[in-house]
Amino acid sequence: MPPITLNVNGKAHAVDVDPQTPLLWVLRDTLNMTGTKYGCGIAQCGACTVHLDGEATRACATAVEDVQGRKITTIEGLSADRSHPAQLAWIAEQVPQCGYCQSGMLMTTAELLKRKPKPTDADIDEAISGHICRCGTYPRLRKAIKTAAAMAAPKPTAPKPVAKGAAR
Ligand code: FES
Ligand code: FES
Repeated sequence: MPPITLNVNGKAHAVDVDPQTPLLWVLRDTLNMTGTKYGCGIAQCGACTVHLDGEATRACATAVEDVQGRKITTIEGLSADRSHPAQLAWIAEQVPQCGYCQSGMLMTTAELLKRKPKPTDADIDEAISGHICRCGTYPRLRKAIKTAAAMAAPKPTAPKPVAKGAAR
């Protein structure tokens, strides 16, 4: 069987696996990218969320043969230096407890902020509704998503100084 080529975080990887293998296993066990977590394995908890062409997707329920030629982004590729507004907000609001669910939460938040730069409480609840946090970090999580939205918002530009003597 020819290897399957995956585009992960902007790099091509040829992997020699069964085409039906879930993307999650390939990320973690073949490519050693362990930032994406295994929670339930049946698309119920959100821990394994990655982006496929920018769309939040559960890697545990996605076969590698279905993602060839698509752009896969994992938590390792969300930013080069942990400077994505969601990552900064997570630190500012001290969101994680055990941390297990958090990379999935971050990937969903990043997608939400792209779709809705100013998410409402209802948007946030809807986005994270399929994510399970056993540590109950939801209140901090909601706050951090608002903080991330504020950090990502374009800053108002200062008015240009009016030249002396210019008409007002
Ligand atoms: S591990 Fe994929 S949704 Fe739980
Ligand atoms: S921080 Fe522990 S499961 Fe969410």
